[in-house]
Amino acid sequence: MAFYSEEIIQQLKSHADIADVIQQFVPLKRSGNRYLGRCPFHDDRSPSMNVNPQLGIYKCFACGAGGDVFKFIMEHEKLDFKSAVEWVAGATGFSLPSLNPSENKEVTEERGLIKSINELAASWFERELTKNDFALQYLRKRGITEETQKKFRIGYAPNSRSDFISFASQHGFSPKDLVKAGLAIERETGGITDKFRGRLMFTIQNLTGMVVAFGGRILEDRPNTPKYMNSPETALYSKSQILYGLNHSKQEISKKESVILVEGYFDLISLYQAGIQNVVAVSGTALTETHANILSRYAKTAYLVFDSDAAGKKATLRSLEIVLPHNITPRIFSLSRPNGEKIDPDNFIRENGAEAFLKELGKAEDWLTYLGKEKPTETIEERAAFIHEIKSIIAKIQDKELRDQYLKMLSERYQTRATLPTPAPAYGKSKKNVLTPQAPQVEWNLIPSAEFRFVALILKNESLWKPAASFFNLELAASGISFLESTHLGELLELALAFFQENQTIDLKRLHPMLSPALQEILENLPSEEWSPETATKEFLEALLVLLNRSIDRFRKEIKTGESEKSFKLRLDLLQLEKENQKELQMLRGETAKHQKLFQKILETRDKLIAISA
Ligand code: UTP
Ligand code: MN
Repeated sequence: MAFYSEEIIQQLKSHADIADVIQQFVPLKRSGNRYLGRCPFHDDRSPSMNVNPQLGIYKCFACGAGGDVFKFIMEHEKLDFKSAVEWVAGATGFSLPSLNPSENKEVTEERGLIKSINELAASWFERELTKNDFALQYLRKRGITEETQKKFRIGYAPNSRSDFISFASQHGFSPKDLVKAGLAIERETGGITDKFRGRLMFTIQNLTGMVVAFGGRILEDRPNTPKYMNSPETALYSKSQILYGLNHSKQEISKKESVILVEGYFDLISLYQAGIQNVVAVSGTALTETHANILSRYAKTAYLVFDSDAAGKKATLRSLEIVLPHNITPRIFSLSRPNGEKIDPDNFIRENGAEAFLKELGKAEDWLTYLGKEKPTETIEERAAFIHEIKSIIAKIQDKELRDQYLKMLSERYQTRATLPTPAPAYGKSKKNVLTPQAPQVEWNLIPSAEFRFVALILKNESLWKPAASFFNLELAASGISFLESTHLGELLELALAFFQENQTIDLKRLHPMLSPALQEILENLPSEEWSPETATKEFLEALLVLLNRSIDRFRKEIKTGESEKSFKLRLDLLQLEKENQKELQMLRGETAKHQKLFQKILETRDKLIAISA
């Protein structure tokens, strides 16, 4: 199976902010340069999950779940690694190369072309609308304000065969290009014409706001003419992945943790304009698994506005079964006029306002109640069949707690056992790292705090990487002098600086997975403090001097007293060195201009120490 290169994955990892990603599922609270939230991998009552964007990792203190952004998505979304990579790329706007090398360049080019054409078309349709009073009036009559029109980029395609084709050709796009973008069609009789003619245009955008397709409505309903016409699937537009309006509504959906699923463009726009903004439209296609998966990033509840005709019921049942496995709880309601006539959200809002709509929404039924009314459950056989059907739906739900809750509800209402016929499918992960808290790897009371701070200082300040790398050179390593007392810290610094030598940078997100659990733990506990380059340099030099003195001191003590003439002389040399070093330290205090010179002196001291120790 083709796979993304390690380099691409590392680039994506550096690009993605793990806190942003996790925030889509779990509310996080900032604490210094870290975030805390309730762990979604166990029943967490207090926030035990720590998210560190600098290292690109999360870790739960309570259950031990942890890893990088891909691991989180794999575990949370039950995806394999490759899909998790694609998920993260999609959510953070990172463009992954195609895995099919021959397709790669062509598709990228075609997508680029369609993107430009779509953008041009959207602007053109918008402008044409402002020039067409009839279309504008239609829009206003339907209650859409100018502000909403602009926000949703509503436009108008003039009733002509080739106005857009000519306009686009002035901008360098050939009719063939327009066919690729779905904005022109080849006629059977030969020749190419505009696809959208005399239609109010809805601009369909993806999550990042890119124009991917259009939907056009005729202004006067006419027989033999479809009311709506939509773009075909193109290299940029896949109906099964796009939900109309989500680019505008995702924040509100995420805030409310619920989404209202409507059918049409106007339903969505009317609700949004009325202030009910946690809404998306499937607009003409059936809800897909991909749609549900996307929505599950934002919503826990989906309100299905149910249409009481046969097709509406079928669509509701289908949507319900599609969202449930994605841990979205469907709730179902319908809208009608006082005379009982069923109407769509657009009409309802215009006739009754937002408050009345929310009142109806508040009366939405849970899905079990809804299905219980829809299906016959009079006889024992009917009830058994019904319970079987419900259990098969419940079995698909990924979240165990939700599954159990529904089973309980089912067993209470229909007096059946709260168990599933077959073991729940192997969704989810091995229980391995759940609820087995990891013992800390590091004995923190043995870590000298000055050394810890020194290492943190270096790791967190780019300006210090070079000087640090030149201080901790090969000779120092070869001399066997342990500059840092803590072997853990020494090792961490050594690995970080080796990373620097190799990559000319220290990317903590990439370094972290290369480390032993103990070193990872140290990295995860770096202080949140930020330094300015100036204070960083000053503190670095001061700390170097102090630590240098300590290691001279340690070294001196290691030499057994009174053993020989040689060791006596060695101790004297070291004392001398220590004294000089002290003097440098005094000089430095309050004087920042001589950093470069001081650093040279420090390097000399290091070399003397190495020479003495040899
Ligand atoms: P509806 O027929 O319910 O239309 O189709 P509507 O949204 O209420 O439209 P208005 O209010 O009369 O303008 C619901 C959705 O199904 C798709 C469109 O996305 C529409 O918004 N549809 C409908 C089509 O794609 N083609 C059609 O011919 C009709
Ligand atoms: Mn309508």
